[in-house]
Amino acid sequence: MCSDLRDSESRENAPQEARSESYFDQAAQTWDDNPVRRELALAVAQGMADAIAFGPEMKIMDFGCGTGLIARELAPKVARVTAVDTSAEMVSVLKTKAQAAGLTGIEPLLLDEKCEATLAGDYDAIVSSMVLHHVEDLSGLAERFAQWCRPGAWIALADLAPEGGTFHRPGQQVAHDGIDPAVLSRHLEKAGFATQSVRTVHTIRRPPAEGGELRDYPVFLLVAQRTLP
Ligand SMILES: C[S@@+](CC[C@H](N)C(=O)[O-])C[C@H]1O[C@@H](n2cnc3c(N)ncnc32)[C@H](O)[C@@H]1O
Repeated sequence: MCSDLRDSESRENAPQEARSESYFDQAAQTWDDNPVRRELALAVAQGMADAIAFGPEMKIMDFGCGTGLIARELAPKVARVTAVDTSAEMVSVLKTKAQAAGLTGIEPLLLDEKCEATLAGDYDAIVSSMVLHHVEDLSGLAERFAQWCRPGAWIALADLAPEGGTFHRPGQQVAHDGIDPAVLSRHLEKAGFATQSVRTVHTIRRPPAEGGELRDYPVFLLVAQRTLP
C-alpha cells in the first residue's frame, strides 16, 4: 500500500486493535447485515446514478469498495467496475458476493503498491462512499484520483459531513471527524477537478457512538469532473 494513501488507523504506531485494516478485515463477513449500511449505500448509489450518466461502455473504479454495496449496485450500468480496497477480507467478501450474483463486470483488487502501479489513467468515473474520513492525506488522494481518471472523467464522493467526533467509537481512530465538502472541493480543484454539485444524499439517524439521544449524521455527495486536458 502506498504510504500517502494509508489511512490513519493503519499507521504503524497505532495500536493493533485500532488499525483500520484489522477492523475492516474483522467486520467484512457481517458488514452487509447492518440495514443502516445497506440503506445508506442504496441512497448513495442512486445519488451517483442521478448525477452521472453511466453507460455500458464505461469503466469505473469504486475506491474503498468494502463488500461492494456500491459496486454491486452500479455494475449493471457500466462495462467494468474496478473495486479496490486495502482490506483483504473486504475484497474477498466482495468477490464471493459478486460471483454469487453473476456480476462478471466487477474486478476486485486489493490496493497495494503492486496493484496501484497497474491502475491505468483511463477511468471514466471514480466513485467512493464513506472512505475519505479514513484517509489522512486528502490532497494526495485527489492527485491520485486525477492520475487514474481520463480527462473529462467524473468523480462522485460520499462521506460524513463534519460530525464532531461522535460518530465512531472512542479509540476507533479515524483520520477526520467527517469531511467539510468545501475543503474537499479545494483539494480536488487543485488536482484538476471542477466541482459540479454538493448535496446531502442521505442522513444516518442513530445515537452517538458513546450512547445518548438519536442524532442526525448527514452524508454529502460531491460530484466533480476532471477538467480538460
Ligand atoms: C466505511 S467502509 C465503506 C465501504 C463501502 N464503500 C461501503 O459503502 O459499504 C470503508 C472502507 O474503506 C477501506 N479503506 C480504508 N482506507 C482506505 C484506503 N486508504 N484506500 C482504500 N480503501 C480504504 C476500508 O478497508 C473499508 O472497506
